[in-house]
Amino acid sequence: MKTPARTAIIAGNWKMNFGPLQAATFAGEILSDLVPLVEASSHIISIICPPAISLAAVQHAMREQYHQRIELGAQNMYFEEKGAFTGELAPSMVSELCTSVILGHSERRAYFGESDELVNKKTLAALRHGLRPIVCIGERPDQYDAGQTREVIASQSLHSFGRLPAEHVKEVVIAYEPIWAIGTGKAATAEGAGEVISYIRQLFGEMYGDEAALAVRILYGGSVTSDNIGEFMAHPDIDGALVGGASIKPDFVEIVRKTIETVGM
Ligand code: PGA
Repeated sequence: MKTPARTAIIAGNWKMNFGPLQAATFAGEILSDLVPLVEASSHIISIICPPAISLAAVQHAMREQYHQRIELGAQNMYFEEKGAFTGELAPSMVSELCTSVILGHSERRAYFGESDELVNKKTLAALRHGLRPIVCIGERPDQYDAGQTREVIASQSLHSFGRLPAEHVKEVVIAYEPIWAIGTGKAATAEGAGEVISYIRQLFGEMYGDEAALAVRILYGGSVTSDNIGEFMAHPDIDGALVGGASIKPDFVEIVRKTIETVGM
């Protein structure tokens, strides 16, 4: 069931697109449409997640066209506080600019060897620093074909967002992103995604109790566009979307607009 407390989240994962110059231009363009839209509905938060090097540029654009429910997110971070970790970002650095951080994206798991255990450490570190972790889980195409979705989801859930401190569990956001749907144009059906998301909510309830399960926001990700967002948002258990390809196009604004049509003003 959707509850009013579960404000919808539409997050845009720009992935490795737009350096600071392009990011500033694109952010300026979409913010001029996004700000009045988000202004009109108190039931939505939009989070823009540019590459790390472009965070400051996008933050600057957001200050010029400000709305408190348009937030900045990072795509990754490390869990250590500081030190000799060349190329990494510490949670305290991310929290200077961002409210949120995507963790355990399937591309990080596949290309950079991130394990559930590492994702768990990062999730705990994010919460310690007041960052909202957006923890990604999802099955590979071969696991989907073999009918192992639930097994994979159960294991990833337990190990990626297990052991969270009780006072912070409600701040976690989970993104269910079946890998076969990412960047393929073959989105899951709202029914299929909804079924897995309801299962994740059930698992979360087993770990942290019914109240936490009712509060936790679970997003769908994988080939979301303005054409299919309405169907996903109509599902009672789907609280928003993590958008990749369409987030670096004006279609992102349309996705937010369609979401508001579903969640109301
Ligand atoms: P996509 O990516 O919308 O391009 O499928 C989603 C994601 O990877 O978060």
